[in-house]
Amino acid sequence: MNRIFFFFVLALASFLAIKCGSGNQKENQNDKMASNKTDTVVISRGVNSRGIGRFKEVKLTHPLNEDMIAKAQLIFNAKCTACHKLTTEKLVGPGWKGVTDRREPEWIMNFITNTQVMLDKDLAAQADLVTCLVRMPNQDLSDEQARQMLEFMRKNDGKN
Ligand code: HEC
Repeated sequence: MNRIFFFFVLALASFLAIKCGSGNQKENQNDKMASNKTDTVVISRGVNSRGIGRFKEVKLTHPLNEDMIAKAQLIFNAKCTACHKLTTEKLVGPGWKGVTDRREPEWIMNFITNTQVMLDKDLAAQADLVTCLVRMPNQDLSDEQARQMLEFMRKNDGKN
């Protein structure tokens, strides 16, 4: 009889322990969600920001650097053309016409080299994601190649 009572108490105790445990877990989850939310708000600066990544200040040069553009053309053919057009038309991703007007140079280079973080935390990148419904994969470009792509986009936008 004593034994049965003992098991009963044990069962009750573990039931309560599980309940408390799951309660805590839920609280933790809520905490996490709350802090994620704060991150997004604090870090993102939305449209016309410089984005998130290594590039804090990109110096543009005039006239355009044709050598960079020629190198970027090859990268475009190999790695970008499947998803991006040079017009305003969306393919998988947004068309590039006008991209240097709607985004800062730093934003473009940060997006190219830090794509996943930008998609997670930058409001403008997230807005693109909502329209396109596809997450751009990392393209593994070097900083130098990202700069070449920027020059290519400037040319496509008729800059000099
Ligand atoms: C598999 C498809 C895919 C490939 C390949 C791809 N992109 Fe993208 N790109 C996207 C999508 C989709 C978006 C919009 C954001 C999102 O949904 O991830 C985007 C957005 C961008 C943007 C921001 C455009 C804007 O108007 O805000 C830039 C810049 C960009 N890509 C550069 C590149 C470069 C450079 C390459 C090649 C080295 C490339 N992408 C290859 C799919 C792709």
